[in-house]
Amino acid sequence: MLRRVLLAMSENDTVERFTRTSALSRPVVQRFVAGDTLEDVVAATSALLGSGLLASIDRLGEHTTERAHAEEVVAAYLALLARLGGAGLTAGAEVSLKLSAVGQAIDESMCLEFASTIVEAAAAVGTVVTFDMEDHTTTESTLRMLAEVRLAHPETGAVIQAYLRRSAGDIEELIRSSARVRLCKGAYAEPESVAFQGKHEVDANYARLLARLMLRGHYPMIATHDPRLIAIAGELARRSGRARDTFEYQMLYGVRPQEQRRLAADGNRVRVYVPYGQEWYAYLVRRLAERPANVTFFARALASRT
Ligand code: FDA
Repeated sequence: MLRRVLLAMSENDTVERFTRTSALSRPVVQRFVAGDTLEDVVAATSALLGSGLLASIDRLGEHTTERAHAEEVVAAYLALLARLGGAGLTAGAEVSLKLSAVGQAIDESMCLEFASTIVEAAAAVGTVVTFDMEDHTTTESTLRMLAEVRLAHPETGAVIQAYLRRSAGDIEELIRSSARVRLCKGAYAEPESVAFQGKHEVDANYARLLARLMLRGHYPMIATHDPRLIAIAGELARRSGRARDTFEYQMLYGVRPQEQRRLAADGNRVRVYVPYGQEWYAYLVRRLAERPANVTFFARALASRT
């Protein structure tokens, strides 16, 4: 219930204006977002790589409705990739891209062209792109564009959401085509017709999809902070004899940082999803919705300053 209310807030303009302009939000934003600028994210990425972690950088922003804005997003990604290349960070840092930020809702062929430009720029500096997965109305189009882009750049990564009922079929298709697959639970408010609603059902489906990926997948990317699922992944890797450089754990910037370091110290590849930029509102609300304690943390930050 609280999750649905919070996720509805992510689309409320008045709450967004208040949250974005209030200095009171800063401490909470800083926990989950690496900063506003390219300099901020390069510094955060260097620090993560220096401590033995990997990174996937997301330039915040979604639901672009104008071509000019989509072009700005492409330019920002090209600048990011050039900086990562120049700073020698591309061996450990890839990028994540929301197709809605580059015009998925405006025109799919334009979006495909923009996404391809970013994927090619990534390849030119020695790194790769993973396409984030957004709400279920975009799933079909995202997988379609991914398949197109992968014809020339098969290393481009997919995201599968365990809460979607369709994901078992999608994951088989991605396994067949040897795609890199990031498996997450899913962060949007989805109707029962397309998504499992209970935590238990979502977790059980995650475990099923994880088993398929670990047994048959090309390069599983286990995106969860859930201790039970992380333990299951380790057990599956041991049982199937999967080498540690053929899969990775992934977690969000600011979430369970000690666990990130523990897994890395244990010899695992661990990638941190690092968002940056000024359009942090919708991302932040999804992080608050994932964990009621985050709302308390937010409320405490507000109270201590009022
Ligand atoms: P769950 O929510 O059950 O949390 C398990 C435990 O982890 C909690 O008990 C808590 O300890 C900790 N935890 C989880 N979230 C936390 C938070 N926000 N703050 C503090 N502690 C927290 N989703 C999507 O729909 N499309 C996408 O493309 C992506 N991409 C993506 C990339 C990466 C690298 C990650 C890690 C996640 C995503 N997600 C995503 C988000 C994902 O779908 C999901 O909403 C979150 O990861 C939270 O789910 P968990 O699997 O962590 O489990």
